[in-house]
Amino acid sequence: MRFLGDYADYFVHGRYVGAALPHLPWADGAFDLVLCAHLLFLYAARFDFDWHAAACRELVRVSRGEVRIHPLCGLDGKPWPELERLRRTLAAGGIDSEIMPVDYEFFIGTGTTLRLKGTLS
Ligand SMILES: C[S@@+](CC[C@H](N)C(=O)[O-])C[C@H]1O[C@@H](n2cnc3c(N)ncnc32)[C@H](O)[C@@H]1O
Repeated sequence: MRFLGDYADYFVHGRYVGAALPHLPWADGAFDLVLCAHLLFLYAARFDFDWHAAACRELVRVSRGEVRIHPLCGLDGKPWPELERLRRTLAAGGIDSEIMPVDYEFFIGTGTTLRLKGTLS
């Protein structure tokens, strides 16, 4: 309800911007903290490995702090099977990652978040 109220009040002021990963309409380092919820990893049948890697790079590009992506499982609650490969791929491109436990579990299997931080400037 808080979101719907905010959306109604501030859409006309440009607070909400439509965009589609893996391309975002913001400058490099535009945000201190970038959050991405219930998109990456959850829809593995629709988005392939390369899309996930490109989306992660784009989220890091617009962040000057860190990126948090939640959760790390598919719709079946099982861990996304390509996660370690993705982390290696990102690391090779200068993006560090860390899996963090969280105390918020929307459904079984959603108890972890991926933190990303670019190490290249
Ligand atoms: C399950 S909803 C999650 C919404 C919200 N982030 C949350 O956690 O409540 C998934 C959202 O991803 C959006 N979406 C689908 N494809 C996308 C893309 N390529 N880039 C960005 N968002 C996308 C959908 O429109 C939908 O709003």
